[in-house]
Amino acid sequence: MKVWDLPTRLYHWLQALLFVALIITGNQGPHVQLGLALFTLLLWRVLWGAQGSQTSRFTDFISSPKSLIAYFRGQQRHKAGHNPAGGWMVVLMLLGLLLQCLSGLVLGGFADNLPYADLWLTDSVFSFVELLHVVLAKLLPILIVVHLLAILFYKLRSKPLVWAMVTGYQKHLSVDSVYFVSNRRALLLLVVSVLVTIAIVVLS
Ligand code: HEM
Repeated sequence: MKVWDLPTRLYHWLQALLFVALIITGNQGPHVQLGLALFTLLLWRVLWGAQGSQTSRFTDFISSPKSLIAYFRGQQRHKAGHNPAGGWMVVLMLLGLLLQCLSGLVLGGFADNLPYADLWLTDSVFSFVELLHVVLAKLLPILIVVHLLAILFYKLRSKPLVWAMVTGYQKHLSVDSVYFVSNRRALLLLVVSVLVTIAIVVLS
């Protein structure tokens, strides 16, 4: 059955490519441009998390501690999309990546013209943001390795997830139907995200 919509799949694989490119380039070459592209994608994913298809919505995969415990005890019914543990992993990855992009924007001077920047963007705040960016640059790859190990773990337990993230379809899953939102809405939200990034660049 179909579990992932096209926008989430596109977002995921573009993000993976950009992440690898950012790691390879370090802070040289097109680092800022790649970071702006990743920021745009993340913005799009956040909007899609509020307005997108069922399995892409935050409300679908952010679960209570009770259902997380039930999942680990094997008491949870199978559902389409992220399981409770995977859902929290996604939140952690999205927050980490967003924080990395936001700190990068500050370091790149894109926050210099924000209201009262001369008051709050002091040298010590800048140094803290710099430290955050460096620390996250080390932590995020570890988080992604954990992400890949988790996928390998499910694969070894006969639950292949990668093909579903490529095609949108997951085999041997029969749960209640999933609702999908039109790709036109996703395109509109992508345009909004691109415009926000352009505004940040132009106004800086
Ligand atoms: C070749 C490398 C990768 C593979 C094979 C892969 C595979 C997957 C798969 C199968 C899922 C769906 C998990 C599920 O069914 O619950 C997923 C989700 C996710 N992955 Fe990856 N991934 C890769 C690289 C990355 C990288 C580099 C990042 C971040 C920089 C990343 C971030 C995410 C996020 C945020 C989600 C949640 C998708 C969403 O709901 O928006 N992945 N990945």
